[in-house]
Amino acid sequence: MSKITNIQPKSNLKGEIYPPGDKSISHRSVMIGSIAKGITEITNFLNGEDCIATIKAFEKMGVTIEGKGTRNLKVYGVGLDGLKEPDDVLDMGNSGTSTRLIAGILAGQPFYSVMTGDSSLRSRPMKRVADPLRLMSAKIYGRKGDLAPLAIIGGNLKAIDYQTPVASAQIKSCILLAGLYADGETSVTEIAESRDHTERMLRSFGAEITSNGLIHRVKGRPELIGHRINVPGDISSAAYFIVAGLLCPDSEIIIKNVGVNPTRTGIIDALKEMGGQIDIQNLREESDEPVADIYVKSSQLKGCSFSGDIIVRMIDEIPILVLAATQAEDETTIRDAEELRVKESDRIATTVTEFRKIGAELDELEDGIIIAGRSILKGGDCESHGDHRMAMSLAIAGLISETGTIIHNIECVNTSFPEFWEILSSI
Ligand code: S3P
Repeated sequence: MSKITNIQPKSNLKGEIYPPGDKSISHRSVMIGSIAKGITEITNFLNGEDCIATIKAFEKMGVTIEGKGTRNLKVYGVGLDGLKEPDDVLDMGNSGTSTRLIAGILAGQPFYSVMTGDSSLRSRPMKRVADPLRLMSAKIYGRKGDLAPLAIIGGNLKAIDYQTPVASAQIKSCILLAGLYADGETSVTEIAESRDHTERMLRSFGAEITSNGLIHRVKGRPELIGHRINVPGDISSAAYFIVAGLLCPDSEIIIKNVGVNPTRTGIIDALKEMGGQIDIQNLREESDEPVADIYVKSSQLKGCSFSGDIIVRMIDEIPILVLAATQAEDETTIRDAEELRVKESDRIATTVTEFRKIGAELDELEDGIIIAGRSILKGGDCESHGDHRMAMSLAIAGLISETGTIIHNIECVNTSFPEFWEILSSI
């Protein structure tokens, strides 16, 4: 039986929130820590199902990781060549980041490995990483060519210069991680700037990696050295409470210790352009990432048009941005967001279908959504489609609806934000 919850309307949200550790950075800390020499101590790790899938994959390849199930980990790195052939299939669950980034590392290993995952993951495109890895000379076999389960036989990689067809940090990171195992220098050129956590973290572990605009280069066979990483709070998780604070009347919230890497802050720029009162306070740097506290106050929003590079900088926040847009004074248009069709669900279709069910007016475009403002959300039954970001967006919608939302199939929230319901009831 799938889990259901009922979220009732609320106003006057007040409080201080600490969102969980950033998902992208948590994954990378275990991956790079595992192939570094020495110990990597990680604090504020995201203890969600996706990142646990990454931990389990490296454990199956012989890496000792202490603290699993907590926010503080100790990864005993085995060095670039220390991974062992896993004696079973690696189960990545719902996690596209685990699958695509680890594919890069597996391509560098002179052994056979297989990755699979849940039905959503098994339908997501892997050709985007299989193509460049094959050019580097890895052997990759998948269902219908490139769908998981994916079997990889790697080793002896050659460096390539690759132009990615879509702006994706997962593709870029996969190639850079494979590039660590290649002879010579590997380069990746993006069509728009995607999140740069891999580049920052590889540099902090001692890799020779340079970025010049959209071109990133990494030298093969570096010596990576383990160290301490304090993972900043996840801006993608903070986004639900930023929008809750803006939309619920008489609210004032501070969200503490949030990663504000400029490749991730599109949602803040977008909401500010819509008139949201959001203040970035106490900006500082931790573990090579910018971190801040975010103050939010109830605001009247206006409609805007979003397209181009900002979309990549807020790719995971579009469903919650759509909710904000339903309450704006006029229409909002989101375009150039066709990548949403291949996320944990087809997020253009699921956002339109589910928000319509509770009373919003939206039009579906091939690459985006047009949202009418000033919608009265009556509330009612809705469905996550197994997509954590849909479930959380529909929960925040319940707060501003007339009768509340009843959300079906909410287990998926555990992939990225297990504490979500507890924090929601605390404000
Ligand atoms: C991620 C990159 C993005 C994002 C995903 C996490 C990452 O995916 O949607 O949630 O950690 O690199 P794409 O690279 O497919 O856009």
